[in-house]
This record gives sequence, structure tokens and C-alpha cells, in this order.
Amino acid sequence: MANTILIGAQWGDEGKGKIIDVLTARADIVVRSQGGNNAGHTVIHRGTKFVLHLIPSGILRRGKICVIGNGVVIDPIALVAEMDGLRRLGIKIDNNLLISDCAHLVLPYHRLLDEQRELRKGHVKIGTTKRGIGPAYGDKAARTGLRISDLMQPILFSKKLQAKIRENNSILAALGAEPISFREVNESYLAAGEKLRPFAGNTVVYLHRALERGKEILFEGAQGTFLDIDHGTYPYVTSSNTTAGGACTGPGVPPHRMDRVVGVMKAYTTRVGEGPLPTEDRQFAEMLHNLGREFGATTGRARRCGWFDAVATRYACMINGIDELAVTNLDGLDTVDPIRVCVAYRLSGKRLDVPPCDAAQLNNCEPIYAELPGWRKSTHSARKFSQLPAAAKDYLKYICKLTGAPLSIVSVGPARGQTIVV
Ligand code: IMP
Repeated sequence: MANTILIGAQWGDEGKGKIIDVLTARADIVVRSQGGNNAGHTVIHRGTKFVLHLIPSGILRRGKICVIGNGVVIDPIALVAEMDGLRRLGIKIDNNLLISDCAHLVLPYHRLLDEQRELRKGHVKIGTTKRGIGPAYGDKAARTGLRISDLMQPILFSKKLQAKIRENNSILAALGAEPISFREVNESYLAAGEKLRPFAGNTVVYLHRALERGKEILFEGAQGTFLDIDHGTYPYVTSSNTTAGGACTGPGVPPHRMDRVVGVMKAYTTRVGEGPLPTEDRQFAEMLHNLGREFGATTGRARRCGWFDAVATRYACMINGIDELAVTNLDGLDTVDPIRVCVAYRLSGKRLDVPPCDAAQLNNCEPIYAELPGWRKSTHSARKFSQLPAAAKDYLKYICKLTGAPLSIVSVGPARGQTIVV
């Protein structure tokens, strides 16, 4: 297994939760590197559906240690609620969870600012999850954020929080939003902080000691390559590094300790929120939605859907150094015939093999499609690559070849068993 970085090779929602869960079986430690409770990783464990937002999905398996690294932004109230929810479903959380004391906090004014900024943008809004992620990372970059270590020092925390709330209340007032009560936030955050205290500490040292002992670590990425703050379809992105580099900076583990990068991609393309999606196809989306597929795990929003975009995944392969590919939702194409695959873009009469940096230009790119025959058969019960219909095998080989990495896992349904290891 070695030390593995798992990332999304598209716009998030690639079905990473399930692949993380499959790979977790062989890992000792599972680390969340970046993002916040904007993520929603769905895992079916013992017949129950779990949607994890901040806690690594390794928590569902006995004997695994889960780490929330310093690159994550944590809403302590949401984290405590997630822990309570998991415990109610019978999941043990005690010495199997560690939280970096350097992780930044998401505060109520971040959520309100997120909401206000979106409102003000009108039709050019980002379509954020409204969890306050952008403003929280904004404070981090501006060096004005509060961290878990502050929350662990109540007197200091209250002092810093009071100043931050005063500052943000004047911004919120200017935006026409209601002010926030220092007392309420202070009380609720300190109470959540006390519940998190046993888990908070220096996770960098923990991870390095574990590496010295030969432990195998899985770094689970949240969101996807094209939501990366540096490499995504800016400004329609999230505010963290969702690409492989984020798995080093987020938890503080150097690149040379990483052994492989697994890229997860759907057999087609989806995106939630606004921004360019060159292969978007409304009819295809309607078909998937009618099957009850493609609704966001965090916000419940219907995802936008399109054909597989090999220009995007090839670029993702380059940025992340993908060694192996896991293809999910193959069964979503079971009734589709023919199946389109975008092999290049056309922009102002020119053929492009890489996505342009500018979101407006990407929006104007016309996909150049190849057409492949569908298989018109259920793939749900296939457990070996050889059991897949010939057209499905050809399709998988084709999209992996275009992307530029070998196929290692195929997912044909949400359950753990509906997984083919190639
Ligand atoms: P934010 O991360 O809430 O600021 O949202 C920024 C963009 O990233 C929006 O388009 C969101 O829909 C998208 N996004 C954030 N988290 C996820 C995720 O976990 N899956 C898919 N899209 C996401």
C-alpha cells in the first residue's frame, strides 16, 4: 500500500469517499489534508450510508487512526456535531482521532461573509457551499485567522475573538447583514473546544513518528483538481490546494515520503456550483437525475453533468503526477449508447489539448468528441474486470489511455463489494 495520496481528477464528487474506504482497508492512518466541511464523502458501511464532512472516512474501520491536518479549516461546532452523529450510529471515536492544533477555525462571520459575497455577485456567483470556506482561508492567508491552538486557550481565544467579531460586524453592517453576538459565539465555540481538547495536538510530529515506524498513510483529498485555488477554473474554485501538493503542505509530510498518487475520476463528468464545464449536457444530466443519481452529498444540489472530458483529466494527470486511476460510477453509463468522450477543445477555430487558464475562455471552448458504443447492460454485479461487457472494458481502457495513467480500480455501485481491483 505504501504512502498514498488520493485526489479527485475532475471537479470534485468523483466518488472519492468509496475509493478512500476501499484503500483504507490496507492503511494504518488516514489523513485529511485540506478543505473543510464543504466536502461530503459518502461511504456505505455495514449497510448504512455515512456522509463524512471533516472526519476522514477511516473512522468507520476499527484500528485506523484518523488525522485532521493543519491544512484543513475546521468549524468546531460542525465537527462536534459530526462526531456526535457518528457515535449515535455506533462508531467509536476516542484515541483514533487527532486534530492539528495549527488548523484554522471557521467562524460564524466567515459563513455570513460567504453568503453576502455570493449574494452580491448575483449571476456571476461561485455557487459555494456557504460553509464559510473562502473567508476562513482568506483570514489564514491574511494572517488574521484563529486556530485550534487559540481555542485551546480560552482567555486568549475570547480576546482574539472579540476583536475579530468587532471588525467583522462592521464589515457585515456595511453589507447590510445582521451583526454577530460575541457572547453567543464565544460560549458555543469554547464549549465545542472543550469537547475537541482531548483530540488536539501536534499532528506533524505524530505523522513523522508513524512514518519512522513504517506505518502506511493514506492522504485523502477533498474536492477535485479543477476546484484547486491555483490550478482550477478560477475564480470558480474552492480556496485550498486540492491537488497532490496539498497532501504535503496540508499535513506537513514532505514529497519524498509519498509513494504513489491515485487519481479518482467518474466515468463521465459532474460539477456542483457555477463555472465552466465544457462537456455539460442537459439531456444526459436529466437521465442521471431521473435515476436518482448526481445530487450533492453536502448541499443536496443537483449536480451538473457532462461527458467524460479527457482534456481535463490529462491535465489533472500532469498536475498531480497520477500513478493509477480509479474510475467510479461506470454503472451510470449502463443505459447510454453511444457514449461521447471529449478528446480536445476548439477555441476560436484552434484545437486545444490543454484547458485554457481563463474561465471565460474555457467557457467558450467547444468539445471535440469521439463516440464509443455503449454496452446496454448492467455492470452492477461485475466483480472482476473480465466480467464487464466488452464495450465497457474498451471504454475504460480508452479513457485511461487518454488521461495517461493505468487503471487500478473500477467502481460499479456504491457498496464496498461493488469494486473491481484491476
Ligand atoms: P466552497 O468550497 O464552499 O467555497 O465552494 C467553492 C466551489 O467548490 C463551489 O463550486 C462548490 O460547489 C465547490 N465545492 C466545494 N466543495 C466541494 C465538494 O466537496 N465537492 C464538489 N464541489 C465542491
